[in-house]
Amino acid sequence: MSDTNRGTDVPSGTSAADPAADAAAVFDLLIGLVRAQVLRGIAALHVADHLFDGAMTAEEVAEREGSHPQATYRLMRAASSIGLLSYEGGRRFGLTGRGLLLRSGVPGSMRSLVLAQTGQALWQSWATFSEAVREGKTQTKKALGMEIFEYYAKPENAAEAALFAQAMGDLSGLVTQGAVAAVSTDGVSTVVDVGGSNGDFVLALLEADPGLSGQVLDLPHVVEAARGEADKRGLSGRFSAVGGDFFVEVPPADLYLVKTILHDWDDDQCTTILRNCRSAVHEGGRALVVEMVVGEIGKPDLATLSDMAMLTTTNGMERDLAEFDALFAASGWRRVKTYPVGNGYFGLELVAV
Ligand SMILES: C[S@@+](CC[C@H](N)C(=O)[O-])C[C@H]1O[C@@H](n2cnc3c(N)ncnc32)[C@H](O)[C@@H]1O
Repeated sequence: MSDTNRGTDVPSGTSAADPAADAAAVFDLLIGLVRAQVLRGIAALHVADHLFDGAMTAEEVAEREGSHPQATYRLMRAASSIGLLSYEGGRRFGLTGRGLLLRSGVPGSMRSLVLAQTGQALWQSWATFSEAVREGKTQTKKALGMEIFEYYAKPENAAEAALFAQAMGDLSGLVTQGAVAAVSTDGVSTVVDVGGSNGDFVLALLEADPGLSGQVLDLPHVVEAARGEADKRGLSGRFSAVGGDFFVEVPPADLYLVKTILHDWDDDQCTTILRNCRSAVHEGGRALVVEMVVGEIGKPDLATLSDMAMLTTTNGMERDLAEFDALFAASGWRRVKTYPVGNGYFGLELVAV
């Protein structure tokens, strides 16, 4: 870019009717990083849990939490300015519908998702984002000293890994019910959730269809949580969890669930995962891929922003339908159904060819 095109000079063909409004809009985009940390502060200090029984002053929250009263007040004031809390006067704050989503350990909570997304591993990786664009691949190794899933597998990062697994569960909650309602389990008796984390998806399917048995395949350090979750839901009799590597092999099944897995990997790696499913699938079996799908370019599209996160932390990407279809064709599958399952995610149902 030449120096004459910098700053407020307007290159030909560009419309800049209201530079002040544009500057405010850019500032608003930038301040998104602060919004994310305000979310983190509210989640980390259990503010939604404290306010659940009714409004409180910042000082009361600070006393329960052992945090600094004035800093807690400033955090809660900021949170009320972005709709997470309501201001009730006299330094008292209450919960809004958005704030309610940050309670701990309740169905539908987004608290772990907030904490994982703003936590050590992912936040540090963002520091290398522009380098990732220059190099065309994640620079997480520079940020963390290793790839992201290696980082989570280290015993010293167990708490953060558990939070990440829980965050995947939170995210799952936003789409699982839609996917369970949409997929048919006619003719299916065994389901394998490939990279199924704590098993949220397959367990929801088992709850919906008492004739099914299900399995999670995930990395060895993850599967214990899936067994615990099945126990909690009284589904252990129809469920098992196996520690393994989906690049090596997957257990046989009538139906594979491949939810938010492909976006973590490059095309060759995705083809390997899908081929392993294709080799092991029972006659007449299917796979259900659940992912965001990149839509029309130039329109607001969460998938393109999630794609930036994929570029930062993994060697994966969010894909459009043509890119998915190329992966499926290269691995022995064909897409036969496509349906929205909520929050920008789609179910892509595949049959073996
Ligand atoms: C983005 S999470 C998705 C989890 C789950 N499918 C969901 O939608 O909530 C990716 C999952 O892949 C698992 N994973 C990563 N590498 C793996 C491998 N080589 N073999 C099996 N699972 C793996 C991770 O442990 C993690 O649980």
